[in-house]
Amino acid sequence: HNRQAIESHPMAHRVELIEGPSTSAETMAKVKASIPEGASVMVILDSDHSKAHVLDELRNYAPLVTDGHYLVVADTILGRYEPSQVPTKRSKVLLPGDEPLVALNDYLQETDRFELDTIINGKLVLSSSPGGYLRCVRS
Ligand SMILES: C[S@@+](CC[C@H](N)C(=O)[O-])C[C@H]1O[C@@H](n2cnc3c(N)ncnc32)[C@H](O)[C@@H]1O
Repeated sequence: HNRQAIESHPMAHRVELIEGPSTSAETMAKVKASIPEGASVMVILDSDHSKAHVLDELRNYAPLVTDGHYLVVADTILGRYEPSQVPTKRSKVLLPGDEPLVALNDYLQETDRFELDTIINGKLVLSSSPGGYLRCVRS
């Protein structure tokens, strides 16, 4: 359904779909091969929101982000819920501690390439990704 909707969109010519587990070696090779030399790269991580998977994605995809561009980690709101507020009508129920925000905070201990963008984060009065917008500040 998603493929059909994307491919029939007027902007489809600007979208290249790579289908597969987001962090597999095969997917990563295809992603890297699709980035032209000298391109500006931003990344939005919005797949499996468990801590282990987001951390794996951060370690694979954040190095692709180019200086001055953005890394967006979606659904960091999950880290702000009380256990009783966690959405349960999902394929995975992710309790605080097993979600994107904790993965992001762990990843930020491993790198000095990203800074929280306080302006964008501050503009988003309502957001499912509070604190999820980071800017790459070093190549
Ligand atoms: C929260 S949805 C977001 C989809 C898209 N980013 C959007 O905004 O429409 C998460 C998507 O990630 C896919 N997904 C979950 N785990 C994945 C994985 N390990 N590798 C690749 N995709 C995955 C799901 O099938 C689902 O389509």
